[in-house]
Amino acid sequence: MQPSFRFLFALLCIVPLAVLSLPAQNGLYEVKEHAHPPHGWIQHSVPPADHTISLRIGLPQPNFNILETHLYEVSDPGHHRYGQHLSKEEVEELVAPHPESLQAVNEWLASHGIQEDEITRSPAKDWITLTIPIGMAEKMLDTKYHVWKNLKTGDDIVRTTSYSLPIGLHEHVDVIQPTTMFAQFKPFRSTIVKSNEEPSSVINDALGSITNPATGLTVDASCNQTITISCLNQLYNAVGYKQSSTSKNSIGVTGYVGEYANLADLQQFYAEQRPDARGSSFRFISVNGGLNDQSKPGFEANLDVQFALGISYPILATFYSTAGTPPFKPDVITPTNTNEPYSDWLDSVINQVDIPLTISTSYGDDEQTVPESFARRVCSGFAQLGARGVSVVFSSGDFGVGDGNPDPATQTCFTNDGNNQTKFIPVFPATCPFVTSVGATQNISPEVAVSRFFSGGGFSNYFLRPAYQKRAVPGYLDTLEHGTYQGLFNRNGRGVPDIAAQGDRFRIIVGGQPAMIGGTSAAAPALAGFIALLNEVRLRQGRPPLGFLNPFIYSIGSSGFTDILSGHNSGCGTPGFNVTKGWDPVTGLGTPNFGRLKNLV
Ligand SMILES: *[C@@H]1O[C@H](CO)[C@@H](O)[C@H](O)[C@H]1NC(C)=O
Ligand SMILES: *[C@@H]1O[C@H](CO)[C@@H](O)[C@H](O)[C@H]1NC(C)=O
Ligand SMILES: *[C@@H]1O[C@H](CO)[C@@H](O)[C@H](O)[C@H]1NC(C)=O
Repeated sequence: MQPSFRFLFALLCIVPLAVLSLPAQNGLYEVKEHAHPPHGWIQHSVPPADHTISLRIGLPQPNFNILETHLYEVSDPGHHRYGQHLSKEEVEELVAPHPESLQAVNEWLASHGIQEDEITRSPAKDWITLTIPIGMAEKMLDTKYHVWKNLKTGDDIVRTTSYSLPIGLHEHVDVIQPTTMFAQFKPFRSTIVKSNEEPSSVINDALGSITNPATGLTVDASCNQTITISCLNQLYNAVGYKQSSTSKNSIGVTGYVGEYANLADLQQFYAEQRPDARGSSFRFISVNGGLNDQSKPGFEANLDVQFALGISYPILATFYSTAGTPPFKPDVITPTNTNEPYSDWLDSVINQVDIPLTISTSYGDDEQTVPESFARRVCSGFAQLGARGVSVVFSSGDFGVGDGNPDPATQTCFTNDGNNQTKFIPVFPATCPFVTSVGATQNISPEVAVSRFFSGGGFSNYFLRPAYQKRAVPGYLDTLEHGTYQGLFNRNGRGVPDIAAQGDRFRIIVGGQPAMIGGTSAAAPALAGFIALLNEVRLRQGRPPLGFLNPFIYSIGSSGFTDILSGHNSGCGTPGFNVTKGWDPVTGLGTPNFGRLKNLV
């Protein structure tokens, strides 16, 4: 970046907004974004006048394509820049908006009497957040907000179906939310404790062991009923690997929607499954006032922390708790809790100098409920993490090709683009090409795609197939009979998931009690634990961390995964896609073989 740009940034921070105000910004408005509310939401009432809203304004990142080029070069094991990750400052320069955009937005804000000290800017100045009364937002965006109610959950949110901006401002703003976003962010886990199915004891030696012909590995037979840390180490060829940690290595687990990781439960889990880790714990980071309520252990948070840490101990671990707990009640004068909370988390973590090298997230939502403009910006945030050397891992969702409607007879996979077409429903952020998405398997010999719930998989309707999938994914599409599911999925989209891991019958501790739990939510933290161990292998050799994994996974890394050959992922009233030889949109390239991967990294 030229020095003059930097100077201008500094200048813009100092000059009061009002000085720059030009009446021209109040010119003619034109619709910037328009959405149809997803199935199941009804317009309910008018929000109270004193209701406030926290708006996020995303300014365009004109150099994002350069960042993307850097990201692919430093993440490609075949490239001479492999591992030469970018610094925080380098990334910030590449996502900074153009000074003209900064100025245009400043002028518009100033014309509504908003001062610099009333807004917050991200370090790269590509995001602005401000909390204002709803009436003011309505004026600025020439729109009308309503309280919308979700018929199924009863949740209320304050949204609009369309907003406008002065014509001259359109090219200087990518996105403003919350406006048209009706997402319902959820954890991807399904509890399976039933009164007639008590969690079995940890290891039942009486069952003996089984040798898996696909991998040649011997696994306790009890692992077919109950997955433990020891089972995962056996299945994925990590037995005998001496875990250790260099000071640079770290792993992070994110928690949202009021999911708290319980410290006492973690100790009890360690005592049972990872005795050498007893007494160790995680560092807690609160994002946006996210709580750490030890009286409310969360199934999801406990699952994620117990398995990510149980595999990766003694690597330094962090648990992030990001605020934002539904149901939101629009009658109180607190700001709406809003957008998909990853954007808040991303703001916070991108601002950290030292970010955990592997980060696992087991939450997501139907891609179509996240407006494309917003999904692209969140996805760009994950690219920034990758460029800085972070491996970002997401679970691929638990509803196969569908949207989670529990009754397969009444499929509800309708598009909310106004056409009300039937279409498969991929999950975001798993569909972001800059994250590694993880599907779920079960059983041990052979390991197959899960069948109690269905491993999320399919093709993005927003993101095109990335270069790293240009062999693997067409290879799969060629196996489909001509016309299969025509119109139900985007053949040119980014394929999901990338890889898979065990995802059912995990034994965890919640509230002092053992529980059995499953979901791609289980697969992601387990996989992330092994990635952290692979980083350790590299760091100990004085090499940089793996960073964005996919270019490695789809090239030399692919031989470090065991191809899964059986199963499918039902949804939308169909059997979904089939697991096949090679990559498939159910289990990706397969499950990890740590022993092999550690020689490949
Ligand atoms: C979409 O079509 C389905 C079936 O044809 C119908 O049940 C549903 O109500 C429609 N949804 C909307 C929002 O029109
Ligand atoms: C594992 O359990 C499944 C059913 O839960 C069963 O079909 C399969 O035969 C078992 N496999 C082994 C190797 O025990
Ligand atoms: C999946 O496999 C079944 C059984 O071989 C076959 O009938 C079906 O057409 C396949 N589905 C897809 C989407 O490939």
